[in-house]
Amino acid sequence: MLRRLLLYLSRAGWARNIVTHWGLARRMARRFVAGETLDEALAAARTLNANGLWVTLDYLGESVARAEDTAEVVSTYRATLEAIAANGLQASVSLKLTHLGLDIDEALCFANLRRVLETAQQHSTSVTIDMESSAYTDTTLRLYRAARDCGFANVGTVIQAYLYRSAADMQALAAEGAHIRLCKGAYLEPPEIAYPRKKDVDASFVRLMQAYLLSPPPAYLCIATHDEAMIRAAEETIRQHAIPPARYEFQMLYGIRPARQAELVAAGHPTRIYVPFGAAWYPYFMRRLAERPANLWFMVRSALRR
Ligand code: FDA
Repeated sequence: MLRRLLLYLSRAGWARNIVTHWGLARRMARRFVAGETLDEALAAARTLNANGLWVTLDYLGESVARAEDTAEVVSTYRATLEAIAANGLQASVSLKLTHLGLDIDEALCFANLRRVLETAQQHSTSVTIDMESSAYTDTTLRLYRAARDCGFANVGTVIQAYLYRSAADMQALAAEGAHIRLCKGAYLEPPEIAYPRKKDVDASFVRLMQAYLLSPPPAYLCIATHDEAMIRAAEETIRQHAIPPARYEFQMLYGIRPARQAELVAAGHPTRIYVPFGAAWYPYFMRRLAERPANLWFMVRSALRR
């Protein structure tokens, strides 16, 4: 119930206006966001790399409505990729297609995606296309495949375990040797298309994770979760089937379970941290609150104490 409310608020403009002007919310958001500037994101990436963690940098933003605004998004991503190379960072980038203009025009979005992919290719790094709500699943997979067909081997995308369709999608992507991030899914979806109960989402995550890890190379899996049961199930599958580190990595979000991130590295598992930066932190922050209402209570208690 609370999750649904927070996910609804993540899309409500009036709530964004209130929350983004609230000092406490801004400070809380800093726990999950590296900062508003690229320099702050690079500093966070340097620290994470120094601790053996790889990084994927996400320039925050989504649902861009004006074509001219997408030029700034592309140039920030290109600057980010150039800075990754110049600083010798172990990092990739993650992006959302609606940030590149998917709501305006699919052709514009794909042209923008190509520009980012070209820069990433020049610097031998990779790009993951995040998965947004189910309204975008088909288009995202189509544009991901179109990019591969254009010869970009440095692109991957995301599958959400809560969608019923994901088993079929993962099977097809495994056969194509795709680089896939598997997560549970962060959006509000109806029960006609997504498992409503956590226990079913968890069971789906484990099934999809195991099947993908056991599929032939070059299929590569990013296991994106903070859930201890999911992590243990993955570690067990990797151990039992002697899956080499070249076939998978764990992924977590910046600011969540840092001690567990360090343990994964110490255990020899490649581990990458998703590091968001930029001024448009509101929807990202609200989705993180929706995942862990304890964070919301912490915020409310702190506000009442003032
Ligand atoms: P779950 O939400 O069940 O949480 C399990 C436990 O993890 C909690 O009990 C708590 O201990 C800890 N935890 C989880 N969230 C926390 C938080 N916010 N603060 C503190 N502790 C927390 N989604 C999507 O739809 N499209 C995408 O492209 C991506 N991309 C993505 C990249 C990466 C690297 C990650 C880790 C996640 C995503 N997600 C995503 C988000 C994902 O779908 C999911 O919403 C979150 O990861 C939360 O699910 P968990 O698997 O962590 O488990």
